[in-house]
Amino acid sequence: MPVREALRRAAACLSQPAAEYTEPLSCGVDLGTATCVLAVIDGRGVPIYVDQLPSRALRDGVVVDFHGAAATVARLKASAEEALGRRIDEAATAYPLEQAGLSCTELVDEVSAANRFLGIDDGVIVDVGGGSTGVGVYSGGRLVKLGDRPGGGHHLDLILAGTLKVTIEDAERLKRENGEEYLRVLRPGIERIATSISILTDGHSASPLHLAGGALMLPGAAEIIASYLERPVLAYEHALLITPLGIAGRRA
Ligand SMILES: Nc1ncnc2c1ncn2[C@@H]1O[C@H](COP(=O)(O)OP(=O)(O)OP(=O)(O)O)[C@@H](O)[C@H]1O
Ligand SMILES: [Mg+2]
Repeated sequence: MPVREALRRAAACLSQPAAEYTEPLSCGVDLGTATCVLAVIDGRGVPIYVDQLPSRALRDGVVVDFHGAAATVARLKASAEEALGRRIDEAATAYPLEQAGLSCTELVDEVSAANRFLGIDDGVIVDVGGGSTGVGVYSGGRLVKLGDRPGGGHHLDLILAGTLKVTIEDAERLKRENGEEYLRVLRPGIERIATSISILTDGHSASPLHLAGGALMLPGAAEIIASYLERPVLAYEHALLITPLGIAGRRA
């Protein structure tokens, strides 16, 4: 199934499972700085259930509130069990989550997970989340460079909050609801993310960038990155779901 179709299907089953699926199901949990996403794919690799909750358990890629993280994952697990009408005992994750009542079947790093979903042989996976910008360079189907730097959607919220003199929570809401309107204010922050991408892809400046993660879902952000770095950029609708779906397993 093509990537964009799989993302559309995943977005359509947010909190509500697909009517039909094939066994066995695989579950993935992506515990991020901003969002905790639980994704389920079926036996063919088709997304059949996705749910998300805000998360404040991580800072700079480190779990700082383990109990909070476990409680968030446990809530997502309980909702998924109710929606799917079955128990979920196992999941693949980027962090072990035994305390949330899930035994970890596989530990996957986020960039490899994103590319398990996107399936790029030659190109760059860029996962810009709430707190950090992760980059993996693929060449001939192999991961040849991996790195990350602080900076993501939360920093854009800080810029907007400072400029508009509103709280960070209000800035986050305004950015999501009316991103286009604030693009001029956010441009320097987006260009700073672009600079991180450029540093992390040193030596591979011609490869196309594939944008995963929520922070660059801002309308116009992909164009700013493309023109600032003068390189091809591919953006995906519902990009926030790419890494969680890849954690759950291989795409159909
Ligand atoms: N529609 C949207 N428009 C603009 N920004 C968005 C939108 N939806 C989500 N975001 C931003 O995406 C970020 C969260 O993305 P994501 O879920 O990929 O991060 P995360 O995985 O929690 O963080 P990290 O990977 O850094 O630990 C937040 O900063 C949020 O403001
Ligand atoms: Mg993330």
